[in-house]
Amino acid sequence: MKPVPKTFAVKSFGCQMNVYDGERMAELMTREGMTPADASDADLIVLNTCHIRERATEKVFSDIGRIRKDRRAKDGRGPMIAVAGCVAQAEGEEIIRRAKVDVVVGPQAYHNLPKLVAEAAAGTTALDTDMPVGSKFAALPARRTVGPTAFLTVQEGCDKFCTYCVVPYTRGAEVSRPFAAIVDEAKALVDAGAREITLLGQNVNAWEDTDGRGLHDLIRTLDRIPSLARIRYTTSHPNDMAQGLIDAHRDVESLMPFLHLPVQSGSDRLLKAMNRSHDRTSYLQLLDRVRAARPDIALSGDFIVGFPGETDADFEETLRLVDAVGYAQAFSFKYSPRPGTPAADMADQIAPDVMDERLQRLQAALNRDQLAFNESAVGRICDVLIERPGKFAGQMLGKSPWLQSVLVDSAFAIGDIARVELTAAGPKSLTGRQLVAAAA
Ligand code: 5AD
Ligand code: SF4
Repeated sequence: MKPVPKTFAVKSFGCQMNVYDGERMAELMTREGMTPADASDADLIVLNTCHIRERATEKVFSDIGRIRKDRRAKDGRGPMIAVAGCVAQAEGEEIIRRAKVDVVVGPQAYHNLPKLVAEAAAGTTALDTDMPVGSKFAALPARRTVGPTAFLTVQEGCDKFCTYCVVPYTRGAEVSRPFAAIVDEAKALVDAGAREITLLGQNVNAWEDTDGRGLHDLIRTLDRIPSLARIRYTTSHPNDMAQGLIDAHRDVESLMPFLHLPVQSGSDRLLKAMNRSHDRTSYLQLLDRVRAARPDIALSGDFIVGFPGETDADFEETLRLVDAVGYAQAFSFKYSPRPGTPAADMADQIAPDVMDERLQRLQAALNRDQLAFNESAVGRICDVLIERPGKFAGQMLGKSPWLQSVLVDSAFAIGDIARVELTAAGPKSLTGRQLVAAAA
């Protein structure tokens, strides 16, 4: 038997959806009467894990080992440990067997966390990796105070089955939350102080409801919430990029000019092997249509180098695609075989030194384009949503409409929308000069 925890800490790894889930778990435990605490002395530590790449499971085991060692040295006994997130879903039994943690809970079952914690306190190891459709959100408490930017999960899961990806197995099939529930949550977030909401989903642009509404209908409705200044969404799949959503980028002022649209590779041969169901040409044509609707849109993407069978020629195609697009920013990763995915068993796995070299070349090209994009923004006048203090006194840091970090030398408050002129650009951020007093 362990004492019933009175304090908790949640550590989230990986994507923004995990950040959102971590916030919801914290709200849930607060409703149960627990108080948030630092991980160094919380009674319960929730590790909200990510399984998308490299050695995820080993990392969880080493985190657990470290927490136990530190805490036993500090207060003689370890905290209760709950493993949540995608590693919990994929490796639940193994985690219990090897690390003897108290609770294992998957991404679709975390509304049951308080019950599982109570079971663990009563002496049983509690595991819940069920995937009930749609029950989780209804069981979660109302949103608490948030900062000026907030995440809102509208869609979960993936039916695309890209051959390298573990998400369809850990997060399950594509499920869209109901329209009204999302609008209510958005209003609650705005009431709690959010000025910007980022709609989240593994395939957020596949969001649809039973009345045939799509993400653009949702965006147009959210646009009418007074005080909600900015709407963003991520992550999108090229095949779900409906014309209605492209049109929304032209018409809806609060929809920010930013699109994260992963492509993964520039080689048609590899896109096929990845089961991406788009090719290089269809992707580039899609971006042309998006740019026609919103010429200043900042484009972002994801890339994988070293997918099984990737030749030098395939990789050159990726570099050529990068040159053709001119991304404002992008993420790039070395391919990592994920247990249970088709690509993990493919022939021609690529040697680590080849992957390293390709990743370096790709990142050099992406960094070059990011700097060029930032430099091209110098001289523009735009709104910056202030998020936090900068490094130096009197300096505040916020985001431009194009999701660039902007440092403003002025006494703005967090949540202000500052009208600035962008005056200088670096690879990761810009500086801005205040033009008029902040409008609340
Ligand atoms: N190896 C490397 N990168 C991966 N991603 C997904 N699965 C893998 C994998 N097995 C990347 C893709 C995806 C992003 C979220 O993570 O680029 O878009
Ligand atoms: Fe993974 Fe592909 Fe689904 Fe994205 S679209 S979550 S990469 S399977």
